[in-house]
Amino acid sequence: MKLFLSLSIFILFACQSSLERQKLSDIIKVTNHSYSNVNQVRTKHISLELQVDFHNEVLKGVVRHEIEHVDGTNFFILDTKNLAILKVTKGKENETEVDYKLEKNDSVLGAPLIVSVGKNDKFINIYYKTNPNSEALGWLDSNQTMTKAPFLYTQGEAILTRSWIPIQDVPSNKITYDATIEVPKDLLALMSATNPQSKNTDGKYHFNMLQPIPSYLIALAVGDISFRKTSNNTGVYAETPWVDSVKNELSDLPMMLKYGEKLCGKYVWGRYDVLVLPYSFPFGGMENPRLTFLNPTVIVGDKSLISVIAHELAHSWSGNLVTNRTWEDFWLNEGWTVYLEHRIMENLKGKEYADVLSTIEWHEYIVEKAYYEKQNKHYLLPLKPTLTGLNPDDGMTSVPYGRGAFFFKTIEEKIGRVKMDAFIKKYFEKYRFRTISTDEFLVYLRNEIKGIDKLMNIDEWVFGEKIPEDRFQPKTKKMDTMENLALLVSDSKSLSQILFINKNQYTLERAEFDTQEWMQFLRKMPRSISLKKMEQLNEWVDFNSWNNAEIQTEWFLLAIDVNYKPAFPAMEKFLGKVGRRKFLEPIYIRLAETKENKAYARKIFNESKNAYHSVSIETIEDILR
Ligand code: BES
Ligand code: ZN
Repeated sequence: MKLFLSLSIFILFACQSSLERQKLSDIIKVTNHSYSNVNQVRTKHISLELQVDFHNEVLKGVVRHEIEHVDGTNFFILDTKNLAILKVTKGKENETEVDYKLEKNDSVLGAPLIVSVGKNDKFINIYYKTNPNSEALGWLDSNQTMTKAPFLYTQGEAILTRSWIPIQDVPSNKITYDATIEVPKDLLALMSATNPQSKNTDGKYHFNMLQPIPSYLIALAVGDISFRKTSNNTGVYAETPWVDSVKNELSDLPMMLKYGEKLCGKYVWGRYDVLVLPYSFPFGGMENPRLTFLNPTVIVGDKSLISVIAHELAHSWSGNLVTNRTWEDFWLNEGWTVYLEHRIMENLKGKEYADVLSTIEWHEYIVEKAYYEKQNKHYLLPLKPTLTGLNPDDGMTSVPYGRGAFFFKTIEEKIGRVKMDAFIKKYFEKYRFRTISTDEFLVYLRNEIKGIDKLMNIDEWVFGEKIPEDRFQPKTKKMDTMENLALLVSDSKSLSQILFINKNQYTLERAEFDTQEWMQFLRKMPRSISLKKMEQLNEWVDFNSWNNAEIQTEWFLLAIDVNYKPAFPAMEKFLGKVGRRKFLEPIYIRLAETKENKAYARKIFNESKNAYHSVSIETIEDILR
């Protein structure tokens, strides 16, 4: 009754004539994980004016929406989550307050904000502040950073931008933006936009993003950050103490960018810079335009993990220029990007290296596939999953990455590289600054590559869940060797540090193999290996103290499987420091397999979660439930 009353009052005073008899429930619809009505009234541009308050861990200010009326609707509906709306006005020079209603909150989608608009209204200004628990925001205090200064970063993808900006939070709507951000005077602010290269004296920074982008790519970071250039149009930002090491590690940026352009067409974003974040960052990288956010675990000193940068750079075309229309089309972002990542790495380090990366990628897909099958989550297994009613984050598995990349690798194998490269170029040219759905992509593919259905089962790849037999299969001597070494180590009666395969001699010591080879060695290690051999291995290679998160993760997984307890203290330390979901997730899943370890995992999680971003916390809570 109360709800009905408030609804009718709202409808009476906010909606005029034509909508008077409509119920609010008819107006508010969820489409593609958003309440927004972009097909009726859409934002073209936003101007942000925000103050960053580290003390209270809130952002406060106003977002000014420049809107475009598509039909005659007198409601402008935006997404919000955990935001306090203080006031809504219309107009540019002269602002007058307008009616609005913040509907009730949904735990995944947040709350729709319905603003009453007339067809001549062009500017809607929303005064608001965030909540300390706003999910996009990672607030780090002084003991979670290198510099001991506080740090803030945002993570928008998939639907978290609404938790720091009231916005139409759908990838199908592309907007431009500008921003003025006020931060404490000793800190630097950066965005996915034109950026300063040093601190100024008043702590007020201005930003512009002149190319239209989806809402999930709006990003902000604040900290004690310094800049180093790696070329005229590329550079790195990091916390000041290690910015020079970061610069060294990423010195291949200019070459990667050049090859990206050769493959996909002109780089349209102006500069390409990388910002290395603190350890809590939940992803390996995030492709915020002009400014990739990078996980510090990538900086290992030997450049062995820079394919993550190739990946984020590739998103400058696949994702940022041509964007998935809905989160069910996410494979078009990530599948393409992994494919291009491997092409960029092939250019840098050769074909065998790219095939090594392919092997690693495929393994991750196969392992996760089995996991979702066991959980009966078959809807996650096709390239295009069904995500209605779910958190789109649930669909962000290895499927769009691994299966997606191998779909494109298989196409390449079928039609040859020359045709493939022509297809890539034309695709990015045709769809630039637009979005694309799976169906539209398939029409395009079939039109461009006549007879593709005779070469491979496109529908099975995209809508099915089986692994197509007729697929690209990477095969490298390196990976085979590591598998054989693993078998030798676990099977042989005695164990020697020097091993032979076909008269080739290998020594089990760190420097003998690179990161991906060691990963393969640990992945393929039979779980029947004795604890004594584990001890011996650890003595030779010292896995416990190896500061390389990819290798550490594989080592810890092996240790959990064979119950090699001496690795557990190192694992606890790792889990208390690194917040990257890709590492946390498999470790916690593996620990959750036995009752004893699950209780232990809960204890570690409770002690560690302060170091994690909400994105990782949610995933791990789900595993340990
Ligand atoms: N766009 C993703 C990160 C992401 C995925 C954010 C899902 C939100 C939801 C990014 O480009 C990515 O794929 N990162 C990978 C690294 C990459 C080398 C596969 C990661 O985080 O591991
Ligand atoms: Zn990606």
